[in-house]
Formats: sequence, structure tokens, C-alpha cells
Amino acid sequence: MNSSLDALVHSAKNAFHSANTPADLENAKALFLGKSGQITELMKGLSALSIEEKKSQGAGINQAKQAIEALLQERRAAMQEEALQSQLKAEALDVTLPARKRHTGGLHPVSLTLERIEKIFSSMGFEVAQGPEIETDWFNFTALNTPENHPARSMHDTFYVEGGYLLRTHTSPMQIRHAVQHVKRYRSLLDQDQRMPEIRVIAPGRTYRVDSDATHSPMFHQCEGLWVGERVSFKDLKVVFTNFCKTFFESEDLILRFRPSFFPFTEPSAEIDIQFSEGPLAGRWLEVAGSGQVHPNVIKNMGLDPEKYIGFAFGMGPDRLTMLRYGVNDLRLFFDGDLRFLTQFQ
Ligand code: DAH
Repeated sequence: MNSSLDALVHSAKNAFHSANTPADLENAKALFLGKSGQITELMKGLSALSIEEKKSQGAGINQAKQAIEALLQERRAAMQEEALQSQLKAEALDVTLPARKRHTGGLHPVSLTLERIEKIFSSMGFEVAQGPEIETDWFNFTALNTPENHPARSMHDTFYVEGGYLLRTHTSPMQIRHAVQHVKRYRSLLDQDQRMPEIRVIAPGRTYRVDSDATHSPMFHQCEGLWVGERVSFKDLKVVFTNFCKTFFESEDLILRFRPSFFPFTEPSAEIDIQFSEGPLAGRWLEVAGSGQVHPNVIKNMGLDPEKYIGFAFGMGPDRLTMLRYGVNDLRLFFDGDLRFLTQFQ
């Protein structure tokens, strides 16, 4: 190869190197090897030469052509390798990174409380019953010894639904609903004057009142309890409820107070207060439930003879119990649906 061919090879090398994309490289190739590329032109020029000159110059041009082709191949391969490396880099997986957390969700704090209540009462032989949230006036009030115009109704203002229905203001209607079913089931025993299994049930669920502040929400929860038999006494209420509270709050030192009160569907009636001996609430009386011996009129509305059947009932607020258990001071937090609050209970 003469020096001008050397220079040509050299400039091809530079052109290939400064090509950054495959398209650039193809353009650079055309400058040397294309139809009117420099090598091609030199080849064409050979035809005008003598045989001797063709031989001497042709060999050199051929060599230069091969050298340029080799450089082109080299650059192509390098470009492919670069592309592969940068793709690998872009798609790199760091297998040492910690796994992404899977958010599985969890139960609402009040649901946790309801589950806990159900478990504790089940262990004491209570069934768990569910009832409708849209109730009739009869079950919500009248059957519970609270006839129309009874003053106790004024504390139970609620949302009225078309067709004479209302959103139940408490879970107490479940006392009647459940007892009526129970009596129906054991009708034949009762008719033969035989002993009927006792009614022992709790009924948790949502309740509604026109009420809204830090400790009241228009929708809230209650859990009703009912135990009716031939010899159920106030003592049984005390034992059952005391056991429940101690188990629920995991505290043996808890004390209970049954404070005389009034409810139309119980006589006598008592409000149940608890007091912790330790913790931030120590020494304060906290109201947790209403209770009492089931009123004879209510026993009658259950389809039972009040001369023979007696029992007690209670109604507690699971929302309140949840607040006390976890030290939450605003009831509305439970129903705002803010995950920053709710996920703390999982
Ligand atoms: N239902 C009552 C209320 O919401 C609570 C209550 C009081 C339920 C006494 C009872 C009971 O079963 O015996 O205010």
C-alpha cells in the first residue's frame, strides 16, 4: 500500500470511530465502500491502466479495501456490544434489595373489639345473633315497653326511613327478635310444659342516632346481651359482666359498679361503670353499659310467661370499649377512614 492508501484507511478508521449510531456508521461506510465511495472510485480508475499498473496498484487498493472492511466490522461489533451493555445496565436487577412489602390490610379496631367480645361471651355459652339495622317501631320501641309518646323515646332520635321503618337506635330490638325465634323453635317443649333451653345470646351490630361530637357518632356500635331462663338472677348478670370486663381488659384488679338507673325495658335497671387501678385512667369511673332485669312486659312480648321466666339484659358500646382499651380519645377517628390511624391497630 502506498502512503495515500494508508491515509485513506486511516481516515476510514476515524470516520468509523466518530460514528455513534449504526446509521452514522452506514453513512461513513458509504463514503469509502459505497457506489461512489473512495475505494470504489479507485477501483473504477484501474480500468484505464495497463496490465502492469493494474497489478501493482490493484493489489494495494484491494488491501486497503480489506483493511477498511475489517475496521468496519470491528466498529459494528463494538457498537453492538456497547448497546448490549447499556441495555443490561438499564435493566439491571439488584437482587440484594429488600423485598417490597405486601400490604395485606387488616381488621378495623372496632371489628377487633367485636371479635374479642364474641369470643369471650361464646366461652361463657352465649350464642351470637345478627339483626337488621333497618327496624320497625315495634321491635325498636313498643315491644321494649316503650310505647308511642313514652319520654324515653326522646333520647333515641333517629333517621326515619320510608314505609314506617327507622334505623335502629340500639341493639335491644334483638332481644325480642331472638327470643321470639327461640320460643318458636321450642314451642312443642313449652306446650308440654317441659323445660326450654335458656336464652343466652349476644347481638353485636351497628346502631344509629341523631348525635355527633367527640364521643358520639351518628353511626355507632352496640352489643346487646340477654340471658333468660327460670332461675336467672341479678347475681348472674354481675358474674357474667365482671368476668367479661376482666377478660376483655386483661386486668384482675378492675372493679365494677352497678349504679341504679332507668330503662323502660328493665326493672330494676343499672348502669355499669368500671374503674382501673392502673394506667392513665386509674381511679376514674367509666360508664360501659346499661343493664337490668328484663321487664315482665318485655318477657311477655317474647312470648314467655313472666311468672315463670326471668332474666337480665345489657347493652354496651364496643366503640367506647375500643377507646378505653387503646387509649383513643376521639370516637370520630374510628369512622374517618384515615389509614394513618387505622393501620396502627394491625
Ligand atoms: N339499649 C340501651 C341504650 O341504648 C342500653 C341498654 C340498657 C340495653 C339496659 C339493655 C339494658 O339491654 O338492659 O341506651
